[in-house]
Amino acid sequence: MENGRGEEEGYDRAKEVKQFDDSKIGVKGLVDSGITSIPRFFIHPPDSLSCTATPTATAIAASPPASNPIPTVDLTDFDSDRRSIIVDQIRDASRTLGFFQVTNHGIPSEVIDRTIAAIKGFNEQSVDIKALHYNRDVGRSVSFSSNFDLYTSKAANWRDTIELRWGPNFDISEIPEICRSELVEWDRQVQRLGETLMEILSEGLGLEGGRLKALSCTEGKTMVAHYYPFCPQPDLTLGTSSHTDPGVLTVLLQDQIGGLQVKHGEHWVNVQPVPGALVINIGDILQVISNDGYRSVEHRVLANHLLQPRISIAIFFNPSKREDLYGPLPELISQDKPALYRPFTLSEFLGRFFTRGLGDKSLISHFQL
Ligand code: OGA
Ligand code: NI
Repeated sequence: MENGRGEEEGYDRAKEVKQFDDSKIGVKGLVDSGITSIPRFFIHPPDSLSCTATPTATAIAASPPASNPIPTVDLTDFDSDRRSIIVDQIRDASRTLGFFQVTNHGIPSEVIDRTIAAIKGFNEQSVDIKALHYNRDVGRSVSFSSNFDLYTSKAANWRDTIELRWGPNFDISEIPEICRSELVEWDRQVQRLGETLMEILSEGLGLEGGRLKALSCTEGKTMVAHYYPFCPQPDLTLGTSSHTDPGVLTVLLQDQIGGLQVKHGEHWVNVQPVPGALVINIGDILQVISNDGYRSVEHRVLANHLLQPRISIAIFFNPSKREDLYGPLPELISQDKPALYRPFTLSEFLGRFFTRGLGDKSLISHFQL
């Protein structure tokens, strides 16, 4: 029987969510406790679980996604004779799919393996030890929780996440010691790659190479390290709901398990793990700055049906100047191509993101002219 809020009599969703959060065990703790069915607040409506972008009753497993169109760009010799080829390949991918992978990016494979192992190590400690780190206090440098949007989203996701908010006041000692040196090193390595990518993306728009960097786009960074444990009912929930990334650019390290999907037309396509590669995607702010020259595209992660956990680590690059106005760059506006967005501050934009949580509809539509 429904009570008028679309909920059955006797089911207090808010209470169950709070109990789960207060237990500080995360979804990994639920799996460790031996559950064979998932708590109800993790169950998503059937249309957000479907394989195609349009609502359908088809289950995820029923029709496989289209073949992989996500290009892999080899960054070898970016500083010499292959620069213009690389700029073209990255521009084309960013303009259409909003996603690509990069190889020969200069980050050694041992560093990649160590980083993934460190996140695995953190999450596979006893629930008591992890509970000491469990907090969703955005005023701190580091938090660890299950679902940053647990209290605002319609349905919870099957993953636990450590979040690091890098910046001038970042307190390294807040990073759990078991993964501290690895995450500091990962940040350092990705910073260099991020700067190179920002140069390539600036040039791809026909701008001077330092243009995005000059807007402070390589200075604000958030790192999220996700742990997607085995899910006993993977067809009823998701690892990460469909969303676009709000920032400028995302550099994502995923292990070899798979499950990340990108919306391409009406279909979800798999971002097939490529050994040693990193996944790069355009965020909302860069779509705005580029006046739709580049696209921020919806993506999601399926719940993990394998016994092995899936680990991914994203670094979101954001402008560091939160109160400056960001809008389509004047160089990219003309009579033929008028500005498509009004300018806004990062504070306003991210404020909207965090009050809403992950959602299907892109936030930038609020700023469309
Ligand atoms: C994200 C994201 C994908 C993944 O953190 O924004 O899309 O593979 N992650 O975990
Ligand atoms: Ni994302």
